[in-house]
Amino acid sequence: MKKDVISILDIEDQIMGLIEASIKIKQKIKNSERYTPMEGMTLGMLFEKPSTRTRISFEVGATQLGGHAIYLGTNDLQLGRGETIGDTGRVISRYVDIVMYRAYEHSNVVELARSSTVPVINALDNIEHPCQILADFQTIYEKKHRLQGIKLTYVGDGNNVCNSLLLGAACAGMDIVVGTPEIFRPPASIVEKAKFIAGKNGSTVKITSSPQEAVDDADVIYTDTWVSMGDKNADERKKALTPFQVNRELVSLARDDYIFMHCLPAHRGEEVTNEIIDSRRSVVIDEAENRLHAQKALMLYLLGLLKL
Ligand code: CP
Ligand code: NVA
Repeated sequence: MKKDVISILDIEDQIMGLIEASIKIKQKIKNSERYTPMEGMTLGMLFEKPSTRTRISFEVGATQLGGHAIYLGTNDLQLGRGETIGDTGRVISRYVDIVMYRAYEHSNVVELARSSTVPVINALDNIEHPCQILADFQTIYEKKHRLQGIKLTYVGDGNNVCNSLLLGAACAGMDIVVGTPEIFRPPASIVEKAKFIAGKNGSTVKITSSPQEAVDDADVIYTDTWVSMGDKNADERKKALTPFQVNRELVSLARDDYIFMHCLPAHRGEEVTNEIIDSRRSVVIDEAENRLHAQKALMLYLLGLLKL
């Protein structure tokens, strides 16, 4: 049966296996080794929103694996003129071998996966960003040599990236603390699910309105934009989130060997200062690079070309 990745929970038991596979695939590229298991295969890439990292890393990833990728913006498709997601899924499944979809609505990703006969990967929607989290956890593993027992702090808006981090951290046995204002907390259903999974894996999930409490003794400090694609009320958001800026004062509460992470794009001077994102503790560019390797492992796994 075909498998989709709509949520990071869809690869709950494969996170470590995919990270290990990704590290091996990364080494092949560094050694200029040819590795083309996707030869003759095509990735369809559906985008309703802009992208730098996701588009380039998926397209380059498919090419490096010997496959081909087609970029399809909403306005390039009849989807933009009212064709249903269901019909789109049924039709493109007859052409391509795997699909990635960046959507405004989570329900549309679910619908595309339901109607497609080939694997569908969520490349960010309003609820989750699973591909990002896979690359993030690879980065943490490379820098800290473990995931279990790591204290991961997310400060800022309780958004799609935060949701996937909560669920992913719980699966990987990491302790996660989210520091966010009351009004921008992640959905209670996600927090409850993360707490349930963390309970089974001996880790903890905490939500606090104090950025200082969140960052205390952190191994990883993670933030994201205060205004996500599709968000309104930018001024209100920026005002409420200002105390959550990652700056010199805030990071002084973390462990001395903390690392700074951000999925990018960053809004310098808002959620993070230049001083911190450009510091030697920042791993944001390695993190962005790992999107390429992690998604190659993910595509091969979903295509049945990688045994974990
Ligand atoms: N982090 C991330 O998904 O970046 P893009 O929006 O550039 O794809
Ligand atoms: N939370 C951000 C992530 C961008 C990669 C957004 O949805 O716009």
